[in-house]
Amino acid sequence: MELCIKLKNIVAIILCCISTLMICITCSGIDHQPNIILIMADDLGIGDVGCYGNNTIRTPNIDRLAEEGVMLTHHIAAAPLCTPSRAAFMTGRYPIRMGMDNGYRVRVLMFTGSSGGLPKNETTFAAILQKQGYSTGIIGKWHLGVNCETRNDYCHHPLSHGFDYFYGTPFTNVYDCKPGSESAIFVDVQATVYLTTEVVFVGLLTLLVLRWTGCISIGWKWIVWPAVICTLLFGSWYSVFGFLRRWNCLVMRNHQVIQQPSNPETLSTRMTEEALGFIERNQKKPFLLFMSLLHVHSPFFTTKPFIGKSNHGSYGDNVEEMDWHVGQIVNSINNFGLANKTIIYFASDHGGSRDSVGINGELDGGWNGIYRGKKGLAGWEGGIRVPGIFRWPGQLPSGRKIDEPTSLMDIYPTIVSLAGASLPQDRVIDGRNLMALLKGDVRRSEHEFLFHYCGSALHAVRWHPKGSDSVWKAHLFTPRSEADNCYRTDAGGCHDESVSYHDPPLLFDLLKDPSEANPLSPATEPLFHEIQDQIRLGIEQHRKTLTPVPLQLSWNNILWKPWLQPCCGTFPFCGCSEDSSESSKTQGPGK
Ligand SMILES: *[C@@H]1O[C@H](CO)[C@@H](O)[C@H](O)[C@H]1NC(C)=O
Ligand SMILES: *[C@@H]1O[C@H](CO)[C@@H](O)[C@H](O)[C@H]1NC(C)=O
Ligand SMILES: *[C@@H]1O[C@H](CO)[C@@H](O)[C@H](O)[C@H]1NC(C)=O
Repeated sequence: MELCIKLKNIVAIILCCISTLMICITCSGIDHQPNIILIMADDLGIGDVGCYGNNTIRTPNIDRLAEEGVMLTHHIAAAPLCTPSRAAFMTGRYPIRMGMDNGYRVRVLMFTGSSGGLPKNETTFAAILQKQGYSTGIIGKWHLGVNCETRNDYCHHPLSHGFDYFYGTPFTNVYDCKPGSESAIFVDVQATVYLTTEVVFVGLLTLLVLRWTGCISIGWKWIVWPAVICTLLFGSWYSVFGFLRRWNCLVMRNHQVIQQPSNPETLSTRMTEEALGFIERNQKKPFLLFMSLLHVHSPFFTTKPFIGKSNHGSYGDNVEEMDWHVGQIVNSINNFGLANKTIIYFASDHGGSRDSVGINGELDGGWNGIYRGKKGLAGWEGGIRVPGIFRWPGQLPSGRKIDEPTSLMDIYPTIVSLAGASLPQDRVIDGRNLMALLKGDVRRSEHEFLFHYCGSALHAVRWHPKGSDSVWKAHLFTPRSEADNCYRTDAGGCHDESVSYHDPPLLFDLLKDPSEANPLSPATEPLFHEIQDQIRLGIEQHRKTLTPVPLQLSWNNILWKPWLQPCCGTFPFCGCSEDSSESSKTQGPGK
């Protein structure tokens, strides 16, 4: 009897083992924990890419991704600027939920020595994938902060947000990084201080000469004290802005500053080599690689093989070079035989900086095609509608276009689910899992509303009513001048005198009028009032989900704090360089 029970148990255990084994075999099939590569261009316009209709610029590698995968034609960034858009991308949440878009004059981080950045209690997709056993790497631009209280706390650093490996700049590519170039940070403040200092110095010099020659008789103190004050003023100006290149333009490997100031001429090439190395090292296990390109943000450090080759000046050259870098990464995935095990995503962090003019007078901003507006202008499509492409052979169809509204925030739930994890339950996630839509299992996006902020001000709302193909967009505010760019400190902001307020909101039918050229009225749109009512309800619902959080881009968090400055060598001079063998290795794409 007892023996029989034991036998039964053993049989049961064996059966159980077999079935577990079967489950394991099925779930370790091809789509179990795919590798994930996210490639994000900086400031690239949707009109700059061949497959999005540009027939005079050459982006063959990106076009091939679209041919072999799915192309999103209604893909929306959560913000028209780097820092807030990337914060939303990393967390799947609107930037206002974490204080990453405040609405003061400054809307992006300006210094690597600021205390603002992606809050510690936000959970990035990298943190979730890391827990799922992924090897997680980010290469390139971060722009979401470094330290909070001390130089080495790294509270906002990629390694504190789920990445095992970081190579790149904690900041971004800006004119300050180009040797001999003007600064792009707080330009108006810099100019004022410089001018004041100059005027005072010239005045003092004149007084000195006049006193010397006996024309006037004033006490020395009227010359000496102003001279001291002026020197201090100039000194502090220089220490903040004269060292900017050193302080902001640096390369880190993990926590270590390895090059300061950075050598921007070779940085992108080094980044791609790092990416290829990362893929090679991790080819046997699931990995997440976030390739955060410095292209095509100005100034351009295009390498020789691409200079003068495009039809669109130095900007076009840089776009074509970016495409080459994308090709390097995709080719390496194909060559390692990882194509079917790897989902590749390509996008831009927000719209192109149309009409932007470089220091030499050349146009240096991207093209947003038929879409109105640009980088920095929150509501208009041009600032937020970006290219978005997925490729995953065998799992996703090829050559498919999807015109349903999707968001960059959707990457978060999509890859969290691919990694076999579940979403954090203690917070609102604004992104939606895209997999069913990409595969073609469903036809509709799960987004009914998308909200478009300029700082803390809600500028526009997109409504895709259930059961209808229509996409309506209502603008509560529009910038007064479309030449303005909220991101520059010397131009307009998100509210007050910089914007026009619309009541009722300016309404557009994006399906028929994607360029937002013809605002609707009750005369031209019979459902005008109903649409406005539904959108108002949508806003009310959305506002109920918002809670006040500490502001990461407050003046206090924005300002440069010497004690937070990442630095190699002696502060404030901060200087070091990767070993010279590194730079001799990096010959660029021509080699
Ligand atoms: C292609 O891109 C270039 C560079 O941004 C732009 O100047 C041009 O107008 C674009 N062409 C089309 C057809 O969109
Ligand atoms: C990858 O998937 C494609 C499409 O299903 C298939 O044709 C190809 O043979 C697969 N390649 C490998 C190496 O499994
Ligand atoms: C993070 O901390 C801040 C400040 O305590 C809080 O307001 C916010 O709700 C927290 N966020 C999450 C996602 O827990």
